[in-house]
Amino acid sequence: MNAIADIDWPSSDFTRVPYRVFVDPEIYKLEQERIFRGPIWAYLGLEAEVPNPGDYKTTFVGDTPMVLQRTMDGELAAFENRCAHRGAIVRREPFGNDTEHRCVYHQWCYDLKGALTGVPFRRGVQGKGGYPKDFDLSKHPMRPMRVATYNGVIFGTFSDATPPLKTFLGTSICAYLDRLFHKPVKVLGYLRQDIKSNWKLYTENVKDPYHAGLLHLFHATFGLYRSTQKGAVLMSESKFNSVLYNIGGNYDKDLAEENYKNQKKYVPTDYDLYDPQLLASRPDFPDGIANMIMCIAPTVVVQQIMNTMATRNIRPKGPGQFELFWTYFGFADDDEELTQIRLTQANLIGPSGYISMEDSEATEMVQDNAVVRSTGDTVIEMGGRGEIHDLDYLISEMPIRGFWSHYAKLMAEPPALQEAAE
Ligand code: FES
Ligand SMILES: [Fe+2]
Repeated sequence: MNAIADIDWPSSDFTRVPYRVFVDPEIYKLEQERIFRGPIWAYLGLEAEVPNPGDYKTTFVGDTPMVLQRTMDGELAAFENRCAHRGAIVRREPFGNDTEHRCVYHQWCYDLKGALTGVPFRRGVQGKGGYPKDFDLSKHPMRPMRVATYNGVIFGTFSDATPPLKTFLGTSICAYLDRLFHKPVKVLGYLRQDIKSNWKLYTENVKDPYHAGLLHLFHATFGLYRSTQKGAVLMSESKFNSVLYNIGGNYDKDLAEENYKNQKKYVPTDYDLYDPQLLASRPDFPDGIANMIMCIAPTVVVQQIMNTMATRNIRPKGPGQFELFWTYFGFADDDEELTQIRLTQANLIGPSGYISMEDSEATEMVQDNAVVRSTGDTVIEMGGRGEIHDLDYLISEMPIRGFWSHYAKLMAEPPALQEAAE
């Protein structure tokens, strides 16, 4: 029996999730094999990050280090950032531009698609040493990954069984990627954050519209997001991916007053910002959406909150830790004022943002308890039990169940079976 069959899902509609999945090192190891190296499209970056021939970015798919590359002929390539010789990291810089990749250890040299092009002392020195005559450079590339893009967002997969990118993303996700990336973007900057919890607790967090108006007091206090506002929850056909959004500024004050009356001691209604510039905004979209949080599981969150736009790459570092790598962007044709608005609003949403810093704290609070006592299950019933479906309201945690339903499917089948099922 393999360890996966061991995950004991207490309910078929995923209203219960065993705490063990957040702490068990065996489960973590199998996730790397069956999910991150399995039939999924993993986020690698934005085309705007590697615009020129020779540009590269180092990143991770799960905990596998990767290089994302723009080749000299303008194509995109991606390969494992691990020397085929004895395993050293080949590129240690976060970004760069070069015509080749050379491993520092014994200087094996690779081209921009990760193919091995040369090794020092191949014929030895003065007739001694060197590689065997039949040593074949072409057999030792850095392991390549298949790459595909959607509206300038780059994804890669290790598996031949992965469905086409658009199918994997799902109809609703594609629609909201079309909305966000409707014109060329430019990168504004990066932030990195180490979070001491399991990566799936963060995935749950961004699929949970109901915490936003409760945990994030800044949101609720200044009316940026309240569960009484209009909004929706949409999922991919697989239920793995989701998009949540709310329409800003239209909430019914009486309804909000009524629904938040029990929270009054936590949600002050008479606060003003000393410097209201923080909330200055210029609408980018005609639809009035103030917050849009998309989760393309398992590797990335794409956000638009007022004028802040960012991708948040989830990079697991073991069962109890992950890095969240934020790439902030604007549109290529933004004027200076709009760029400044986006940069100022990064103080709202980011590792120490007034709105988002509580998220990492919340996931760490869960993790600390799961480590101490990994028995028992979570309860996920807000929005109902049973069928998992899209919603035209926000007071729900149904997309979390959607995530777990597909997670369980991926984890239940070894890659060979996943391939056969296609
Ligand atoms: S480990 Fe890279 S050349 Fe030896
Ligand atoms: Fe949050």
